[in-house]
Amino acid sequence: MSRVLERYMKIIACIFVLFIMPIYSFGHPGSVLLPEGCGSCHVGHGLSNEPMLDKVEEQFCYQCHGSYEQQSEMKTRGKLSPAARLDDIEREFSKPYRHPVEESGGHSPTEQLPMISGAQVSHVECADCHNPHQRIKPGVNKIDEVSGFTLSGQYVKKAEHEYEVCLKCHVDLLGGPDSEKDISKQFSVSARSMHPVTRPTVGVLSPSTMATGNLSNQMTCSDCHRSGESGGPAGPHGSSFEFLLSGNYNTDINADESSLAYQFCYSCHDRSSLLNNESFPLHKEHIVGDLIKGIPGTSCYTCHASHGSKDNPFLIKFNREAVSGSGLTNQITYQSYGRNRGLCYLTCHGHSHDPARY
Ligand code: HEC
Ligand code: HEC
Ligand code: HEC
Ligand code: HEC
Ligand code: HEC
Ligand code: HEC
Ligand code: HEC
Repeated sequence: MSRVLERYMKIIACIFVLFIMPIYSFGHPGSVLLPEGCGSCHVGHGLSNEPMLDKVEEQFCYQCHGSYEQQSEMKTRGKLSPAARLDDIEREFSKPYRHPVEESGGHSPTEQLPMISGAQVSHVECADCHNPHQRIKPGVNKIDEVSGFTLSGQYVKKAEHEYEVCLKCHVDLLGGPDSEKDISKQFSVSARSMHPVTRPTVGVLSPSTMATGNLSNQMTCSDCHRSGESGGPAGPHGSSFEFLLSGNYNTDINADESSLAYQFCYSCHDRSSLLNNESFPLHKEHIVGDLIKGIPGTSCYTCHASHGSKDNPFLIKFNREAVSGSGLTNQITYQSYGRNRGLCYLTCHGHSHDPARY
């Protein structure tokens, strides 16, 4: 039997099974917005090598998750309910920082991301993160039934957390224990501090944190990596901002402070709280700089990790391009004595801290 015919038979069999056993309780096939159910997506004769689908990969999805024109066409064909108002995901993928779904090809088991391996091209498909048939978690932070990697590097067929789906590709399997590019290490359970992705926050919120619903306790990767437009669709599809972030983040060593420069951080951490030194008493002096002393402002990135810090509380991790060892002891160290008290050994903007206390 040819592969196509085999798949055809499989689909017929599935439809039959579904008739007597409605296991798809939520997700695509159960949607009232798909008048023809399975038939809204699967056509009698599809393209060869496709399971009865008339478009390939993301082009298939864009028929309903693309432009207004594409959606209208599907409505005219009776495949999509006239009541459906779906976000244009294709538009997200046309932005400068995006997951490269337009690159094609299958995944090989030894594939590594360009940011880790230096390979030229790499790709990702909608189906790496979404399952058109099954969703295992409805409500906020939905997650489809797709494979992933646990924090300890175990392959799982059904990822239970969004970050497990991301780790499937964003780990450095071959790198050493300190691989900077390995995101599972940055969010490891042993990390001293982290943005609460793989574990919830305990205790009170930091002074600047603006409580935003469930976000304050535990967040997902896609709370930060998502469309940079307010009201834009959820998901790390594409953004006009570097690193596929929800807002602008200037990581330069010498940077002029403004609400735009750190728009990204300020969307969750109150700018005036930070610049009024409600926590670190020297925040303003460092972020804005000091005209009289002739010290320029510097980015949050000079002192803070974005994901997690292995050794320090408060996400302190110095940007090694900005700081060097302290003049006397040649060390780069941060020591905390609890909230709002600590010291640093390092040299920054030619200024040696041996240590500097606050
Ligand atoms: C939203 C569109 C959509 C709907 C609705 C849908 N499917 Fe699919 N189906 C797909 C896509 C896309 C694939 C290819 C998945 C892939 O390549 O990983 C697929 C693949 C399949 C396959 C082949 C699986 C394989 O391993 O290759 C079967 C069988 C199938 N679908 C059955 C069904 C049945 C039965 C229904 C109705 C209950 C249904 N589908 C509803 C989009 C859909
Ligand atoms: C025939 C039209 C159609 C096609 C083709 C289609 N979808 Fe959908 N999709 C829908 C509709 C309608 C919904 C809204 C379901 C609901 O709210 O009941 C939806 C919802 C979704 C959602 C969840 C959004 C949410 O808020 O719950 C995801 C994720 C998704 N689709 C991904 C895909 C992917 C990936 C593909 C391609 C493999 C695809 N869709 C192809 C019609 C389609
Ligand atoms: C199937 C593999 C795969 C999965 C799964 C995946 N990614 Fe990616 N990701 C990529 C590829 C490929 C790139 C582009 C890398 C490049 O071009 O250097 C990328 C790029 C990114 C970037 C942009 C990095 C930069 O420097 O601009 C971010 C952020 C990102 N991914 C976050 C996520 C998040 C969050 C998830 C989980 C929801 C996720 N990824 C899941 C493959 C994947
Ligand atoms: C609090 C917001 C936030 C969360 C949550 C977050 N990120 Fe990031 N991420 C950033 C920022 C800011 C940068 C850019 C600066 C940097 O590299 O530190 C970044 C950079 C990246 C990059 C590109 C740089 C690199 O290290 O290769 C990838 C890939 C990425 N994040 C993936 C993820 C994944 C996967 C998760 C979830 C496990 C995640 N991020 C969670 C804010 C976040
Ligand atoms: C790297 C992983 C990844 C890839 C690739 C990806 N998505 Fe998503 N997508 C997500 C995540 C994560 C969410 C957010 C789920 C949530 O929290 O509600 C999401 C959300 C969505 C939603 C719902 C948007 C909303 O506002 O509710 C749709 C529709 C969707 N994706 C379609 C697609 C389509 C179509 C493709 C391929 C062209 C695609 N996605 C590729 C990870 C991905
Ligand atoms: C989407 C919301 C969001 C964004 C964007 C965000 N944060 Fe956070 N941040 C949080 C939450 C939630 C916490 C944990 C609760 C708390 O400590 O108040 C947190 C905690 C922190 C902490 C304290 C960690 C600790 O262990 O005490 C620092 C430092 C921090 N963030 C810095 C940043 C920086 C720098 C940026 C920009 C690069 C940023 N955040 C962007 C939500 C966010
Ligand atoms: C010179 C280094 C430095 C720079 C630059 C810096 N921070 Fe901090 N930040 C700290 C230190 C040290 C602490 C810990 C204060 C303490 O001891 O409680 C801290 C604490 C925090 C906290 C947790 C307490 C609170 O106020 O909520 C947040 C959030 C934070 N910083 C965000 C930022 C953001 C956003 C920027 C950039 C706009 C930034 N920081 C720039 C050193 C820095």
